[in-house]
Amino acid sequence: MNQPVDGLDAAMRLAIEQSNQVKGTTYPNPPVGAVILDAGGAVVGVGGTEPAGGDHAEVLALRRAGDLAVGGTAVVTLEPCNHYGKTPPCVNALLEAKVGAVVYGVADPNPAAAGGAARLTEAGVQVTSGVLADEVAGGPLREWLHKQRTGLPHVTWKYASSVDGRSAAADGTSQWISSEASRLDLHRRRVAADAIVVGTGTVLADDPVLTARLPDGSLTGRQPLRVVVGMREMPPEAKVLNDDSRTMVIRTHDPMEVIKALSDRTDVLLEGGPTLAGAFLRAGAVNRILVYVAPMLLGGPISAVDDVGVPTIARALRWHFDGVDRVGPDLVLSLVPRGD
Ligand SMILES: NC(=O)c1ccc[n+]([C@@H]2O[C@H](COP(=O)([O-])OP(=O)(O)OC[C@H]3O[C@@H](n4cnc5c(N)ncnc54)[C@H](OP(=O)(O)O)[C@@H]3O)[C@@H](O)[C@H]2O)c1
Repeated sequence: MNQPVDGLDAAMRLAIEQSNQVKGTTYPNPPVGAVILDAGGAVVGVGGTEPAGGDHAEVLALRRAGDLAVGGTAVVTLEPCNHYGKTPPCVNALLEAKVGAVVYGVADPNPAAAGGAARLTEAGVQVTSGVLADEVAGGPLREWLHKQRTGLPHVTWKYASSVDGRSAAADGTSQWISSEASRLDLHRRRVAADAIVVGTGTVLADDPVLTARLPDGSLTGRQPLRVVVGMREMPPEAKVLNDDSRTMVIRTHDPMEVIKALSDRTDVLLEGGPTLAGAFLRAGAVNRILVYVAPMLLGGPISAVDDVGVPTIARALRWHFDGVDRVGPDLVLSLVPRGD
């Protein structure tokens, strides 16, 4: 720390990093990141929201900055809150620390917590909003903002595909299409998720355990809820029923019933096969697609997704790429609906 950063964008990127680090651990609070710059622009404190009941990001970063925050700038991914929840408003902490300026990415859509910017401005603090707003709203805060807007969890459909769009070989085997590096990347994402959803077809074909694991194979401290959708019975020895995490079985074919059953969650990973993925897409119940594309051809009948209700090209479901990365030998593509 005490390093100058090159402008507010760089400081916000640091705050986004903090936000990403605590993603999945802050429910029901948003995973916020904060950075305190001293009056000369050097980083003197960073913080990410602690689990519920703990400190908010700003408070943690201010404590680390101590007196160096006086006359400095607080850079925060989300508008500082202005209400008493389990902890006092962050606005109070910022005023007590005598920062001269507050910069944030995204306004707080929660009416109970909003108003932080106005109160800071009234108190004479210089407030700037919208810095890297798209990166914040499409990144660490995406799922939480979706939940605030809709009251429903955000669903990411994740799958591994060959370059010709197949999610299994002709005999139904799919382990493993993606590389070990991709699977490690997936486990990092699972840690932040609140639930992993599959259909009975995936359980019966692959017998997956659906846990979040560290590179050495051990379980991470926090495990997403495992959810199996469908009418068929699973064998009692199915790994998804083991004691590594909790498992919910939902006997329905209606994706909206699944979403409602998970309405106390924020970040849901749909990891089912082509049948369940197709049902969710037809119901408009997918908010992001994350596909690990392996440099492999499989051909054959098992495509990544069944019917998605598109009879002709003019009615294609059109999405756009919001991320294209390489992981080991694979590509990881992230897509969101057009207009998002
Ligand atoms: N590459 C990948 O990322 C990936 C991921 C997962 C699976 N897979 C592969 O996919 C294959 C399994 O595919 P799958 O499609 O059977 O798996 P699935 O989509 O996970 O499960 C299908 C089952 O879900 C239930 N279901 C829930 N909602 C439904 C709806 N609206 N309509 C119809 N059924 C619904 C049905 O179970 P009931 O019949 O019990 O009611 C159905 O048989 C395996 O070969 C597996 O290896 C690949």
